[in-house]
Amino acid sequence: MQLGDDVGALVVDIGSGFTKCGYAGDDAPKALFSSAVGVGETDEKDGDVSMTSSKQEQRSREYYCGQQLEVRRDNINIEYPVKHGLVEDWDGFDRLLDFGFKDTLKLDTADHSILVTESTFNTDKRREKIIEHMFEHLHCPATFLVKDSVLTAFSVGRHTSLILDSGSGITTIVPVQNGYALIAASRRTKVAGDYINEMVEKAIVTSGQSKIRPIYSLKKQTVAGKVMSENLDFPKTTSSYHRHYQLDVIRNIKEEICEVSQIKLPSTRKPDTKSYELPDGNRITLGPERLLSTEVMFVPPAELGEDLDPNFKFQGLGHMVVDSVMASDPDIRKDLFMAVVLSGGNTRFNGFAQRIHSEIMRRLPPALSKLKVIQPVTSVERRFGAWIGGSILASLGSFQHLWISKEEYTEHGPGIVHDKCP
Ligand SMILES: Nc1ncnc2c1ncn2[C@@H]1O[C@H](COP(=O)(O)OP(=O)(O)OP(=O)(O)O)[C@@H](O)[C@H]1O
Ligand SMILES: [Mg+2]
Repeated sequence: MQLGDDVGALVVDIGSGFTKCGYAGDDAPKALFSSAVGVGETDEKDGDVSMTSSKQEQRSREYYCGQQLEVRRDNINIEYPVKHGLVEDWDGFDRLLDFGFKDTLKLDTADHSILVTESTFNTDKRREKIIEHMFEHLHCPATFLVKDSVLTAFSVGRHTSLILDSGSGITTIVPVQNGYALIAASRRTKVAGDYINEMVEKAIVTSGQSKIRPIYSLKKQTVAGKVMSENLDFPKTTSSYHRHYQLDVIRNIKEEICEVSQIKLPSTRKPDTKSYELPDGNRITLGPERLLSTEVMFVPPAELGEDLDPNFKFQGLGHMVVDSVMASDPDIRKDLFMAVVLSGGNTRFNGFAQRIHSEIMRRLPPALSKLKVIQPVTSVERRFGAWIGGSILASLGSFQHLWISKEEYTEHGPGIVHDKCP
């Protein structure tokens, strides 16, 4: 028996916004849930959740993930263990793994090898920590770490390509050559899904329309045939909990009614307005803001009067792509421009692929006039590029001898990751 094919390997991608986990060989992850972790403190004797006791020594932390979080409780703080693609809180990291594998897939990780996706910009220390947590916390028999960009390239069968992955917390642009990420020529920016949520929220606030009330704070009832919603007051709900669910509504509004303009904004052309029904039954309507909120991905923020921090030197994703290719070896620049692969939830906006194509096209050096933007066919493939690449790789017969086994880890320590995982 080979390592990894004992009971079937698992694949996990813990993003800044969403965790994806499932079985190698599957087309899509079985579990997709928010990477937010709810943290409260509980009295070990009676399970009462409260942050206010002075007897701290008798209290232990209590965690909630995924749908467990949707049940509102007093004094639960929301934390985000992964920020801009990098793990910042290892306790929270463990909770997300437990929730994905033990609570959702209901399996024993001691029986499965686990392939983990990592940010192309991961640090050496964090790489070692991930391996340590796979063996010491999940007790898996074998594990392996692969860069998300490399996996996305793999998922579309383009071993030399330029990967543009835009998720919740980070957008990365990574040239991949024969299956290896060229880190020195890679670029990253915080302009991603969460950043656009802020733009959408700003547009709603500026327009003076309804306040965004999260679902948990509303009670709907029918009065004389009309659906009315009553605001519920929960004084012990933390501000981080309230904010998390407020952002959840804003994210939905964005995904439903925002899109990417095909021409540079601001322009005199008036886009259609679209409206969205809020959880409290009120409707909000957005016009030019539907396109202006996403325009921040393509132009320097100052041109739109946004983010005037002089240290924030973002010139737009089109500029960044060209900059990354031109920082790569001249011999592969043509191949990179011929395979610009889009991945991550934030590239799913209507019009994104066409706009990035024209933004790159108008900056192409004359000697490199050919460009191909590859958008995986289905929306699912586009969202889960890195996970799908991991799923294919971990189920290949030829991959099975590459796993880091528990024995190797025990003998060499977590530093083995640098020898075994490129
Ligand atoms: N149809 C859609 N239209 C627009 N945005 C979308 C759509 N679907 C998902 N998104 C956005 O994509 C983001 C989530 O994408 P993804 O799961 O790739 O991110 P992540 O892996 O959690 O984060 P990161 O890779 O930055 O660490 C969210 O901001 C979400 O609102
Ligand atoms: Mg991601």
